[in-house]
Amino acid sequence: MHHHTHGIGFQYDEEKRREKLDPEKFLRAAGLQEGMAFMDIGCNDGFFAIPAAKIVGSSGKVYGVDIDPEAIQRLARRATEEGLENIEVRAGTAEETLFCDGCADMIFFGIVLHDFNDPAHVLKNARAMLATGGKLINLDWKKEPTEAGPPLSVRLSEADASTLIEEAGLTVSRVDDFSPDFYLIIATRP
Ligand SMILES: C[S@@+](CC[C@H](N)C(=O)[O-])C[C@H]1O[C@@H](n2cnc3c(N)ncnc32)[C@H](O)[C@@H]1O
Repeated sequence: MHHHTHGIGFQYDEEKRREKLDPEKFLRAAGLQEGMAFMDIGCNDGFFAIPAAKIVGSSGKVYGVDIDPEAIQRLARRATEEGLENIEVRAGTAEETLFCDGCADMIFFGIVLHDFNDPAHVLKNARAMLATGGKLINLDWKKEPTEAGPPLSVRLSEADASTLIEEAGLTVSRVDDFSPDFYLIIATRP
């Protein structure tokens, strides 16, 4: 059940979600591999971060940040339960979070760019944290009527998101119609 559609306190029904989007398949298709440093910005309780930690393995690392401390607590608990020691989590805003300088192979925004108070600033942080050649993966709601999702007025179109990403100094390499609900933008740090 969706307790909320977005924002703080947000919790998904993972089973239902997995039918539409298998996070492990998604991450592998995006190019995530063993040994990589992966950042999940707005990670909630880890629908993507947990499978990502399994893919990158003990030679890799997953960083997750979310503004919702309870979601971060759930993620930390799940990581412990699954014996994953390669996840570093932080409760805080993406606007104020810099995990490192140039260490990330892949940064993921999972249905969240439209949620940030200052998406341009969050993208600047992402550019700073990405290694040269590192990838930004932005999955987000289409700005058109869909079965679920936030009001159209708060969504970002592919074009608007691409412009924001390019303005942060990243190069958009692909814009895909990912599913009936979502588009996918892939960009790299030059
Ligand atoms: C639609 S949910 C997506 C969660 C996750 N990426 C996923 O796909 O399961 C958006 C998340 O962004 C978080 N969020 C919203 N604004 C944020 C901000 N400024 N900084 C960090 N996290 C934020 C919310 O708490 C929520 O967990």
